[in-house]
Amino acid sequence: MSDLARARLFHGDNLVACERLLDEKIEVDLVYLDPPFGVGATHGARTRAGEERSRRTTAAYDDPWDGVDRFVGSLEARLVALRAILSARASVYVHLDWRAVHDTKVAADRVFGRSAFRGEIIWVPGNGARSTKAWGATHQTILVYTADARQSPPKPPWIFDAEAVREPYAAGSAAEHFDKLDEQGRRWRERTVMLANGPKTYRYEMSRGRRMGTVWTDCPSMSANTPRAKETTGYPHQKPEKLLERIVRASSEPGAIVLDPFCGSGTTLAVAARLGRRAIGCDASALAVETTRARLSSQAVEVDVEQP
Ligand SMILES: C[S@@+](CC[C@H](N)C(=O)[O-])C[C@H]1O[C@@H](n2cnc3c(N)ncnc32)[C@H](O)[C@@H]1O
Repeated sequence: MSDLARARLFHGDNLVACERLLDEKIEVDLVYLDPPFGVGATHGARTRAGEERSRRTTAAYDDPWDGVDRFVGSLEARLVALRAILSARASVYVHLDWRAVHDTKVAADRVFGRSAFRGEIIWVPGNGARSTKAWGATHQTILVYTADARQSPPKPPWIFDAEAVREPYAAGSAAEHFDKLDEQGRRWRERTVMLANGPKTYRYEMSRGRRMGTVWTDCPSMSANTPRAKETTGYPHQKPEKLLERIVRASSEPGAIVLDPFCGSGTTLAVAARLGRRAIGCDASALAVETTRARLSSQAVEVDVEQP
C-alpha cells in the first residue's frame, strides 16, 4: 500500500508527538489546529442514536479554563514545537474563538514572527446566537501563519492555490452584472478600470466563480454535528469537512504532509487522505483516536496508531 493510503495517528500529548516527528526529521507542510477553546467543561460525545447534547454520558475530552495566561502558555509551547517541524513552504491554521484568539494572536506573532501572519478567516458556523446577556458569538476565527518569513537566507514562498478554492458569485451580482452570453451560452461580464497608463478592461466568466475571501458562511457546522448528516461521528465540536477541504486545497499540494495535532474525530485526516495528502494526527483522548481510526478505515485508509 502506498504512503497516501496510510495515516499516522498518535495517541497522547501533541507536545510529545511533535518531539517525535522532530527526531524523525519529518517536515510538515500544513498544520491545522483546533484545540479546546477553554469553555470550562468536559465535552461529551454522542454515542447512541437520539442522545441529546445535555444528556451525553460518554466523556470525550476536558476543556478547562484556568485563565488566559495558562491557556496561551500551553498553546504557545505547542506552537514552538510545531515551528520546529515546519517545511519551508508550510502554513499553520490556528482555530479559536473570542475567548482566547486575541491573546493567542500576540503569542503566535512571538513564535512565528509578525511578518509570518497571513491574515484571519472568520468562520460562521451558522448556529445563531445563544446569549441573552451579551452579544452571542456567531463566528470563530482561524489565524493563518506561514513558516517565518524573516528567516535568513529567505525561504521559498508558502503554498497557496487561490484557483483551487474559488466560490460562486453572489446571487445579486450574478443577476445584475453578468448580462452577456458567449457562443456556448455562458454568462460573462466586463469591467473597465482606470489605471495610471489609461483604462483597462477585465473579462469575468460567471462559471469560474470569484476568489475566496476571508468570511466563510458556507460551511455550516450542522453538516458535521447533526445525527442525520453523513459525516457526523458524534464526537463533540467536529468541524465540517467542507471547511477543512478548503484549507487543505488552498495550502497544500498532493503528496504534502498535513498534521492535525488536536485531531478529535479526524476531520482533517479524513479530508487530507481523500485529497491525496499524507495525514498525521494526534489526540490525547482514547475516544478521539478510536473515532478517527474508524473514520479513516471506512475510507480505506490504513491507520498506524502509535504512542508518541
Ligand atoms: C475541539 S476538539 C478537535 C475537533 C476536531 N477538529 C474535529 O473536527 O473533530 C479538540 C481536541 O483536542 C484534544 N486535545 C486536547 N489537549 C490535547 C493535547 N495536549 N494533545 C493532544 N490532543 C489534545 C482533545 O482530546 C480534543 O479531541
